[in-house]
Amino acid sequence: MKTTLYKIKQKVIARLKGPVDKINAFNQAYAVFQKTGETPKQGYEALLELYCLTNGKFNDTMNTKLISSNPPKKINATLEGVIGKIDDVKFKNINNTLNKDGYIGFDKKASPELVSRLYDYALKTYTKVAPLYDTKVIYDSLKPISEIYRFDPVDLVNNKDIQGLIMDPVLINIARNYLGCEPIFDFPAMWWSTTFLKEASEEAAQLYHFDLDRIKWLKIFIYLSDVTPENGPHRLIKGSHIAGAKPRSLLNRGYARIPDADIMKYHKPEDVVVVLGEAGSMFAEDTKCWHKGTPLKKGHRLVLEFEYTSSMFGTNYPKFELQNASEEFRNFCVDNPIYAANFILKN
Ligand SMILES: [Fe+2]
Repeated sequence: MKTTLYKIKQKVIARLKGPVDKINAFNQAYAVFQKTGETPKQGYEALLELYCLTNGKFNDTMNTKLISSNPPKKINATLEGVIGKIDDVKFKNINNTLNKDGYIGFDKKASPELVSRLYDYALKTYTKVAPLYDTKVIYDSLKPISEIYRFDPVDLVNNKDIQGLIMDPVLINIARNYLGCEPIFDFPAMWWSTTFLKEASEEAAQLYHFDLDRIKWLKIFIYLSDVTPENGPHRLIKGSHIAGAKPRSLLNRGYARIPDADIMKYHKPEDVVVVLGEAGSMFAEDTKCWHKGTPLKKGHRLVLEFEYTSSMFGTNYPKFELQNASEEFRNFCVDNPIYAANFILKN
């Protein structure tokens, strides 16, 4: 009897000790991050494990703590940007929907002129292809050599149209409201998805997963080509970003890619959002939601994505050197040092 009780006690202690060790590892890494701006590897690992252990509650608690030292600017005016004029009421509705669903599709699309300039830019700019990303190629739609072609974020931030979008006051305010603080522009990403592989690609994130580069973040996507059911619509499970919403048995797999059948054992079909849209369609998502790109049956898909965050704790990315900043963008970076912390202005 004594042995059994001892074993139970040891098990309970081990269960409690695990999270305590991880919280200690996180706290130590956070102290290093505050001094150096770099996240030690064990700190990032602790963040991932604590997310899974607490079903997201750890991230929410940490975000509440860290935003207290970076309060958001109060914006009461109507702002105008790529998705049109947005007043206070609309901003509140957008934020409520994001909090509830983790996703919102915007009514207004980016202008055809802007989409066409960015599409042309993508056809002429070097990319790197999966799986090795070691050589630079220009995408040729007639002869795809990979399922995914990724653009260099440094090239992207030196594009003046992308600089314009980075400065977009409406997008920034959506991120501000959602993160609860002055947002930091984390990174831009742009990529072509193709029909090169005939099955779901892990590399192209075509299996359900959640992102976890940061403590809290928001992504904004712009489709730069028409996206139909055939050419790889983004899919997500509405509401699965909320702390406590992910099934324990799936979280126990850790930071893993999950087959559709397993996701659908736990989530309702009506919560699956398939994001279709013509070129220029835009949406925002907290990619803590389960999400994936669908494998393409034909054509290709070009997407531009921005990430906004409340803290750079997490994955270490190099800062972006700007050789080709517009005068307006330079001034903007000087006026918004928190938001523009990842840009290094040259000349
Ligand atoms: Fe993802």
